[in-house]
Amino acid sequence: TTTRRDVMVIFGITGDLAQVKTFHSLYRLEERGLLDCPIVGVAFEDWTKDRLAQRARESITTEEGDLDEAVFQRLMDRMSYAHGDFGKPETYDGVKQAMGGAEHPLFYLEVPPNLFATVVKGVAGAGLATNARFVIEKPFGHDLASAKALADELHSVVAESQLLRVDHYLGKVGLEEIPFLRFANTLLAPAWNHEHIDHVQVSMTEAFGVDDRGHFYDPVGALRDVVVNHLLQVVVAVAMEAPEPGDRASIGERRTELLRQVAPADPARYVRGQYDGYRDVDGVAADSTTETFAALELRIDTPRWSGVPFFIRTGKKLRETETEVRIVFREAPSLGFGLRGEHPPSNELVVRLGPTFGVRVALAAQRVGTADPELAELDVGFAASPGEAPTPYEVLFEAALAGGGMRFASQGTIDAEWRVIQPLLDAPPEVQPYEPGTWGPAAADALVEGRGGWREPWLDG
Ligand code: BG6
Repeated sequence: TTTRRDVMVIFGITGDLAQVKTFHSLYRLEERGLLDCPIVGVAFEDWTKDRLAQRARESITTEEGDLDEAVFQRLMDRMSYAHGDFGKPETYDGVKQAMGGAEHPLFYLEVPPNLFATVVKGVAGAGLATNARFVIEKPFGHDLASAKALADELHSVVAESQLLRVDHYLGKVGLEEIPFLRFANTLLAPAWNHEHIDHVQVSMTEAFGVDDRGHFYDPVGALRDVVVNHLLQVVVAVAMEAPEPGDRASIGERRTELLRQVAPADPARYVRGQYDGYRDVDGVAADSTTETFAALELRIDTPRWSGVPFFIRTGKKLRETETEVRIVFREAPSLGFGLRGEHPPSNELVVRLGPTFGVRVALAAQRVGTADPELAELDVGFAASPGEAPTPYEVLFEAALAGGGMRFASQGTIDAEWRVIQPLLDAPPEVQPYEPGTWGPAAADALVEGRGGWREPWLDG
């Protein structure tokens, strides 16, 4: 199952995802010498190769600044373009021709989910599906039932093992480092349970709004956009058990197993917010009750995690842009010396997942000359600068080209994710307004009452 792919075919190459992410990631892979096969772009528009190159150049320059002409040329040399209606068999004849004699294709479907099955069937109809892998992007349904229906439709044409589902958080620097950090450090591993950990805070705050994505966002909302996928995967990275020794692929199984142990979320422990001004965004309904902020508590009822709340919060138009997971350890006893009878501040371990990546360990320390103990913060960056770290899409392309599925979400994972969130979709609490530039509605603070509140994020610099 890990045969290297000998062609990459991207459906929807003229679309938004390609413009924002794909070209840039391909360019960066080319720069690092990691591309070794032809790439075929496919779309409805009757574009020339020059027009495609122009689009690629614009999008790479937007992300990267000046581009290296030699690298860009190499990328364009391996690219060709085929066009046509995805519903018509002729289109796939054109694709087949552009693929040359490739036998292990990677088909990347940058198309709306209602076209997934159309494209997969078209590919199969042209006899190209046998050894193929298909990459698909969220949304995978809008609830548990529709996710299952989509999977059934796809499974009627291709095997589950041929499907690679993108959750770009699985390609993020920092995510895999969380279990690594824990299992590779005998200092941490034994403390990773309810006896030592008080609670966990996963926080993805974004200072920007929905802006030009109103049409996409309004029917979706924060819970479906980032919680059911990305932020659950952060919880999984913290809480999962260790993979089988020497079996990297078992990481995927451990993830799904953990997700199945997360208790269905409780609507009474769920807060929805909407920023003032959201309803004026183009594409948003004037009376929209879509949440742009979500805060919730999850529980994992296993011997390891019993009694430990996992809090998640995310929102648009909040005070800062930062994503982190913070493991807050239990309070130490009051020691009777140096502390005026108080408890030392609790240890914290923070992994920052964006915009830069790193880990911080906060230890209670008494410094000479200070009466009160304080948290001494030990910071380590995972990459010297954001530019040096591979973007999630680079990581995912590389994994997909290598033919492996470890970085992708299985249908078992997707089902388990929706099962956790479904009660919140069935009984959503009323949406609370909040002012842009704040930390969201006050009701979210009540969730973490008695736990020292939401921590200020660990900002870079
Ligand atoms: C996307 C969501 O999947 O993830 C966006 O659609 C969100 O709304 C983004 O901003 C966050 O990703 P990252 O990598 O910037 O944390």
